[in-house]
Amino acid sequence: MEAPSADRENLGLGLKPGDSHYRAYVGPPEDYDLIAAMTFNLLTTLGLRQHHSLIDIGCGSLRIGRLLIPYLNEGKYFGLEPNEWLVDEGIKRELGEALVRIKRPTFFFSDSPETVIRAKLSFDFALAQSIFSHCGLDLIKGWLSAVSSSLAEDGALVATFLPGEDDSHRTGWVYPECVNYRAATLERAASKVNLRFEILNWKHPRQTWALFAASKFDSNWFKNNALTWNAGLEKMLSQKKKEARVP
Ligand SMILES: C[S@@+](CC[C@H](N)C(=O)[O-])C[C@H]1O[C@@H](n2cnc3c(N)ncnc32)[C@H](O)[C@@H]1O
Repeated sequence: MEAPSADRENLGLGLKPGDSHYRAYVGPPEDYDLIAAMTFNLLTTLGLRQHHSLIDIGCGSLRIGRLLIPYLNEGKYFGLEPNEWLVDEGIKRELGEALVRIKRPTFFFSDSPETVIRAKLSFDFALAQSIFSHCGLDLIKGWLSAVSSSLAEDGALVATFLPGEDDSHRTGWVYPECVNYRAATLERAASKVNLRFEILNWKHPRQTWALFAASKFDSNWFKNNALTWNAGLEKMLSQKKKEARVP
């Protein structure tokens, strides 16, 4: 059954990625809820908990931030976004001012990795959903370097990209068109800034999820096992048991 026309308009249904509606600008509006659910579930399966700090690179209209901000403790969510109107709309139409007052997220209105370096903050998790699919390799390297210098030693960036047989030669920000890279190219860029690159078996409707892990981020538990909530919780409980046994 099709949504009533007021709903279609509010939700931007039928519009194209890049159109000037807060939901359509960041991707196909039909998937706005799905992308949020997929990403929140991935992050919590990988171990994101309320006390962790997270930077959401290119946070857009808070498609994912509207779940992360209420979940994380006060002051733990950081969003970077050059288009301030997207964050304003996300707050007005999805999150609400009350949650902003309660959870005190920080927003950087910038398009530059330098902003993160200058902030001199440390993050447990970083997120780049549908960002590397729009970055020249120069900008990807900039983001990887900034993230690497700000991640905790057991922290990780999760990011999506579009795998291709060749690497794009574009530079800077490319939008709403997309760019492709070979996984080996991203792996090389990651290793140059001491990040471990792994493809994640976590389904996305169009892109591929990758992990860029700092040296002590534990990804062993899903090396030979499926990346599932059950496996993640099992690992966490056995770790707690071990810690409880230590005198
Ligand atoms: C495809 S949207 C994804 C938004 C959000 N991550 C999500 O999944 O809903 C890309 C976002 O990146 C922002 N952006 C633009 N230039 C950027 C840059 N240089 N670095 C990071 N993000 C940028 C855009 O304004 C837009 O909000």
